Amino acid sequence: MVLQTFIVFEGLDGTGTSTQIKLLQEKLESEKSFITAEPTDRETGLFLRKMLKGEIAVNPKTAAYMFAADRCEHVYGENGIVENCEKGKIVISDRYFFSSLAYQSFDCGEKLPYELNKNFPLPKYLFFFEIEPEKSLERVMNRSKQTGEQIEIYEKIDIQKKTYNAYQKVMDFYSKEEFSEMKIIRIDASLSIDEIHKKIWSIVQEMPILKS
Ligand code: TMP
Repeated sequence: MVLQTFIVFEGLDGTGTSTQIKLLQEKLESEKSFITAEPTDRETGLFLRKMLKGEIAVNPKTAAYMFAADRCEHVYGENGIVENCEKGKIVISDRYFFSSLAYQSFDCGEKLPYELNKNFPLPKYLFFFEIEPEKSLERVMNRSKQTGEQIEIYEKIDIQKKTYNAYQKVMDFYSKEEFSEMKIIRIDASLSIDEIHKKIWSIVQEMPILKS
């Protein structure tokens, strides 16, 4: 099932999805949009943030279950994705289950993340930000130096390289005809912030919900 007003941004750490979501948010009327992210800021997501910072160590399978549990609240919980789509809003999420398929596959295999996530609704648009893992990780490191932001457990070159390859497989899988109602838009994340924003806006502004 595809949620017609749901948009997802995906990509390796440091590819610039959050910056682009902020720019898109500025273009949209606040009462018509709902901007969100995974892991969420709900209790389930707070657990995951601690795990990402290395404060809690869990088995990789537990992490896969936790990301899916957090997502279940995000999709179906109060003031979640489905509720906001039903209210007629454009819902934009920084990451969704494609992150689980890419990130969790390297340490617990492809099958479990897929089984846990295959029944979640699909977004109408999936913007997939691509850049070589070396470059995106460099951005993460530079940002950390400038802002003091902590480096997270997946922000290592070997993990980012494996995740990059896994993401390509995930995008190939969802490019199949049976998922064609969802549009995957590949974004060259090495382009300028403004160029990327223009490309994204040219697509989003044509959504029927913005014409009504
Ligand atoms: P971010 O808030 O900077 O996007 O970081 C979230 C981190 O969590 C990022 O390294 C990707 C990771 N992650 C997963 O491993 N699986 C998931 O399902 C999600 C949503 C995020």
